[in-house]
Amino acid sequence: MSFEQLKSVVATLESDIASGPIVPTVGPLEIRDYLASRYDFTKPLALDEVTADVERMLRTWQVQVTHPRYFGLFNPSVTLASVIADTLVAMYNPQLAAWRTSPAANEIERHTLGWLAARFGLPAATSASFTSGGAEANLSAVIVALTRAFPQYGEAGLRSLSASPTIYVTRATHDAFHKIAHMTGIGRGALRTVATDRHLKMDLGDLAWRVGEDRRNGLAPLMVVGTAGTTTAGAIDPLPELAHFCRAQDLWFHVDAAWGGAAILSPRLRGHLAGIEAADSITCDAHKWFSVPMGAGMFFCRHPDAVGEAFRAQAPYMPGRTAGPVADPYTSSVQWSRRFIGLKLFLALAQQGESGYVAMIEHQAHMGDVLREAVQRAGFRVVNRTPLPLVCFTRDGLVASEFLKALYERQVAWMSEVRLGDEEPVVRACVTSFRTTESDIEWVVREMSRLSWPELKVTA
Ligand SMILES: Cc1ncc(COP(=O)(O)O)c(C=O)c1O
Repeated sequence: MSFEQLKSVVATLESDIASGPIVPTVGPLEIRDYLASRYDFTKPLALDEVTADVERMLRTWQVQVTHPRYFGLFNPSVTLASVIADTLVAMYNPQLAAWRTSPAANEIERHTLGWLAARFGLPAATSASFTSGGAEANLSAVIVALTRAFPQYGEAGLRSLSASPTIYVTRATHDAFHKIAHMTGIGRGALRTVATDRHLKMDLGDLAWRVGEDRRNGLAPLMVVGTAGTTTAGAIDPLPELAHFCRAQDLWFHVDAAWGGAAILSPRLRGHLAGIEAADSITCDAHKWFSVPMGAGMFFCRHPDAVGEAFRAQAPYMPGRTAGPVADPYTSSVQWSRRFIGLKLFLALAQQGESGYVAMIEHQAHMGDVLREAVQRAGFRVVNRTPLPLVCFTRDGLVASEFLKALYERQVAWMSEVRLGDEEPVVRACVTSFRTTESDIEWVVREMSRLSWPELKVTA
């Protein structure tokens, strides 16, 4: 297939998805029976036939996250350039573990990451790598922070530390940190949940109190996680104040900008990320607001020596280190064998240019404003405050789960349910597709108003 043909396949797919259902109505048994009845792998099948069948399954049996009316969990529509990139990567299958095996791919990644590190205001010597996603980038941050704070951690392990490390998060911090605390051995109990203010941002006073209290109790405060665009409500923690506090207290300042990090490109939005330039490390996912296919996260760290120490490795079967300013990715990141993750961001950036990206990001931010205003005009109450395109809303007596069920049954849109604080769950709608238009939003809000009452259970 030529790239012209691929382009036309992608264009057809986009319009088919946009005019089709968003939410599947299938259970596991239906799919298992279907697979068992067709695929026992005893005889070969024609590739065309299997491909068509798999496509039909994907068309019918999944939430269509690239649909313009998918207002979901940060899964984007994807640009054509990024699809072409993933196709090329699959075809050439470069191995990026060592620089010597894939010089072109390694340098393309380095170039792309360096460009974004500069946009974040990080120093030129920043160490950066692509990851499978935000969870791996956040894991990298904790490993490197531990390595830098406790030089004996790498060899002698946590048991050699005289005090237990603690990490400061809020209840809105991404839940991957619980798994990370488990996996790194500091334990889930090492996470300290700092209070938030009424806009769901980390409360500085409570943070200072908790750090002091933990020190008095013989613990070893390690890291503060500020989120730039929380998963539930798009809140941005007070990054400049957190940076200042961390510097004064000798704590590692990690910014989880997995979704919101893309806003750094926008002249309209980047002011909201002020303070990120002082981070010790940053997580930013290309597979969220940069609109490329999964999995493409990024980890940035201003302490290259600590990164090198945390991930050092030696193996006689690997290609020798290339002379010059080169770090082999298998010695400077979590992964060993490494896919060419960065090409999708590079190709999309090169094709659209930074101005194209700014337009795409600002379009989605504007659609967020349109959605916020439209739901309010329709009588819903918006309960979160963020400049990012994520709107949480409710209405007296609205039961979010029932409301969403009705939305799905009518194929109006995909939104989700979220609990902010101790209140009843509300509806969460995030503009994740660059294809979402004002008329999509108007239509969705009109349909939501129509089905609000009397069909839904009203508890009040
Ligand atoms: C703020 C934040 N951090 C981290 C993650 C985890 O990212 P991933 O799912 O790419 O591992 C998410 C996922 O939505 C997120 O919203």
